[in-house]
Amino acid sequence: MADREDYGIDAPRVVRNLGIIGGAFLVGGVLPRGVPGSAVLHMFWPSGLSLLAACAWMLASSLWLKKGVMRSLVGERRWRGDEMVLDVGCGRGLVSVEAARRVPHGSVHGVDIWQAEDLSGNGPEAILINAAAAGVSDRLTIDTGDARKLPYPDALFEVVLSMTTIHNIPDAAGRRQAISEAWRVLRPGGQILIFDIRHARTYLRQLRDEGATEITLKGPILLWGPVGWRFSAVKPSNSGSLITSPVDTV
Ligand SMILES: C[S@@+](CC[C@H](N)C(=O)[O-])C[C@H]1O[C@@H](n2cnc3c(N)ncnc32)[C@H](O)[C@@H]1O
Repeated sequence: MADREDYGIDAPRVVRNLGIIGGAFLVGGVLPRGVPGSAVLHMFWPSGLSLLAACAWMLASSLWLKKGVMRSLVGERRWRGDEMVLDVGCGRGLVSVEAARRVPHGSVHGVDIWQAEDLSGNGPEAILINAAAAGVSDRLTIDTGDARKLPYPDALFEVVLSMTTIHNIPDAAGRRQAISEAWRVLRPGGQILIFDIRHARTYLRQLRDEGATEITLKGPILLWGPVGWRFSAVKPSNSGSLITSPVDTV
């Protein structure tokens, strides 16, 4: 059993490519004058530095900055400690494990499709190892499923969380479907908490149309490169409907 939690690197191929290309440009830029092609390569060292800086920023975002954003997101709720919680796109459990710490008498489900290009070492085993390292295995369940068609009945969860997941769905209709699903599985009176890059305010507009209340929106928050936003919204206690309004995009 691992004694240290490890939540991986986001978009690992992008990070790797930035590092390799940036490094190659930088090396080309310091080649001795006599080497064939060095005159051209010398022009690229500033680009190499920029790419390496982007690579370092993405690594720092995954390893440190993202944890602060996650704590702010989860900390937006006043936890009772017995809630039933869903984490959509749980990855290696960064959000699920923190939520499980907050519900010693509750339970957390993490659901994911385990796309390797979105997070390094992504898979159910990794999150179970992190849960064990954090001492929360007893209240964490891992499920395989798509955010666009969640494998749960209506109104099962009191809290639905999602962090840096829904933007990975390439089309607006799919992202809209994922928000509809998160709303469907949320109990009346329940709370939805999302951080995402690019489209978070579109998700919030969708929920507002459905009648979400007690809305708080925080941002912009710089993570990786694109700007993100986090929000909290509550499903009215008398709510029973699903989202029906047309697709909108930012
Ligand atoms: C960048 S990772 C973030 C993981 C975790 N929420 C975190 O903050 O560390 C995005 C995760 O979303 C998952 N994902 C992408 N598309 C999904 C979908 N349609 N349904 C469920 N999970 C999805 C990926 O497999 C990946 O684990």
